[in-house]
Amino acid sequence: MSLVQSFELSLERSNLSLTREDRPKVFEMCDREWDLLDEVFAPVYSPSTGVSLEFLGLTDISTSGRNGSLLEIGCGAGVAVVMAALTGEGRVVGSDINPQAVANTRLNAARHGVQDRVTVLQGDLFSELADGERFDTVFWSSNYVRAPKDYVYKSLHEAAYVDADYRAHRVYLTEAPKRTTDGGSALLHFSSRGDLAELHRLAADCGRELRTLKSIQARESEYGDHVVEHLLLEISAVAD
Ligand SMILES: C[S@@+](CC[C@H](N)C(=O)[O-])C[C@H]1O[C@@H](n2cnc3c(N)ncnc32)[C@H](O)[C@@H]1O
Repeated sequence: MSLVQSFELSLERSNLSLTREDRPKVFEMCDREWDLLDEVFAPVYSPSTGVSLEFLGLTDISTSGRNGSLLEIGCGAGVAVVMAALTGEGRVVGSDINPQAVANTRLNAARHGVQDRVTVLQGDLFSELADGERFDTVFWSSNYVRAPKDYVYKSLHEAAYVDADYRAHRVYLTEAPKRTTDGGSALLHFSSRGDLAELHRLAADCGRELRTLKSIQARESEYGDHVVEHLLLEISAVAD
């Protein structure tokens, strides 16, 4: 296993991002300012939030007229859902297991004047959605580093970085395609920090197949210089 895939390293990154002295209360992204609450995944110490925005075509609000619906699982500080609402997406729902992330997303929706257009739910993956609720796009920038089966999380923040035994990934692979409209997309932002072979095995086990739609290489210099490949994967049901 390469160093970038080490779950211990990811837990160190998680801890460092909470404790470093330069952790901001407000950060800048997409030429806007955003609040960052304690215990929430910090978009400033990882390229992944910026890559998610690129994957979703949300770096710039002039890409207006989308008029569809988006569910973002794991909305964190709320940058993607707020940008989606600002681009005119018809219905935007963000959900996160971490209550601080839910509060943070609501704060940023209010900061950018879209609080009436963004619904934010606290829960485990799809647990808070009504039966039969579906979206044109279902997206999760996941905790793609695999931790051992018996790993016990020391904080909810660690769940932004690692997934023990890929338990949450298994549920996401199974459920996300059931939550899309006809012609909609169930998407997963994964990376080479994760175990792609294991994800494919899990997908096959759940009757799902994965297709890579986009790939972006991002250089990271924390803990040595390395390149992480970010992938936008589409999840679909294996045809009978
Ligand atoms: C890599 S972070 C991405 C955060 C945000 N979307 C961003 O790009 O800045 C992953 C997010 O998934 C959330 N998460 C982890 N497990 C979850 C679960 N089982 N259900 C809902 N959210 C979860 C974490 O709390 C975290 O906010």
